[in-house]
Amino acid sequence: MTRKLTAICFSPTGTTRKIVTAVADGTGLEYDTIDLTLPSSRSQTLEFGSDDLVVMGIPVYAGRVPSLLSETLASIKAEGALMVPVVVYGNRHYDDSLLELKDILEGKGAICIAAAAFIGEHSYTSKVASGRPDSEDLESAKRFGTALMGFLDKVTDSYVKFDVPGKNPYKERKPSKRVAPVTDDSCIECGICALSCPTGAIDFRDFSTADSNLCIKCCSCVKKCPVDAKHFNDESVASFAGWLETNCIERKLPELFIPVI
Ligand SMILES: Cc1cc2nc3c(=O)[nH]c(=O)nc-3n(C[C@H](O)[C@H](O)[C@H](O)COP(=O)(O)O)c2cc1C
Repeated sequence: MTRKLTAICFSPTGTTRKIVTAVADGTGLEYDTIDLTLPSSRSQTLEFGSDDLVVMGIPVYAGRVPSLLSETLASIKAEGALMVPVVVYGNRHYDDSLLELKDILEGKGAICIAAAAFIGEHSYTSKVASGRPDSEDLESAKRFGTALMGFLDKVTDSYVKFDVPGKNPYKERKPSKRVAPVTDDSCIECGICALSCPTGAIDFRDFSTADSNLCIKCCSCVKKCPVDAKHFNDESVASFAGWLETNCIERKLPELFIPVI
């Protein structure tokens, strides 16, 4: 049976998109990409059925699925669709996020046929998982995509459930201090920060103004600024980055979860 492949991602700093693209490329199928990073893209209705294969990738935020996606994920229709939940994390841990994403998709009627956790450069510091996903990660993601095709047609008659790590109730979401990025004098007012902000937190009339009530500290503006003019100078962000640089340096490897069929 031919299936229509869709690659979906939310990816403020671009690593999740790279992984999802590599997985989709590995299948050898043609596919559409739906990038949910910008606010306008999250208002569309996502509807899939039994002819669809969907690779869904999200970055891990505090061990969970980003809460910004709650509404979008709650509105997905996926009865009978084959889905592949993928999480990308910054070399600390993915905690309950993969289980949570799989549970959400299965709760929408999807059949999750495999799942994976990959590593991307940490949003808060380029010293943790620097440059990842690298060529090894992307090769692994591609091979994962190719492996999916090996058992796709067997799924309907001999589908075997599989487990992914994680606990339910999921890790508690702790309220974090509201902060917004600051802008230094090197800003060239190109507007890339405002155009790429997933929550519209940056003022289009004055790119140095950001709304801390909207900012989710995803670091899209920090990493995309061509002249490094955006920073979080709040102590809570700096000390967490320092903790990551001390404790999360050892290279973690992609984990693939494929049911035995
Ligand atoms: C708010 C926030 C929370 C994060 N929490 C975690 C975490 O719990 N574990 C981890 O290893 N990385 C964590 N990260 C790092 C991201 O998961 C990682 O850098 C990912 O590659 C970013 O994906 P993106 O490039 O698609 O935005 C967090 C990043 C942000 C912005």
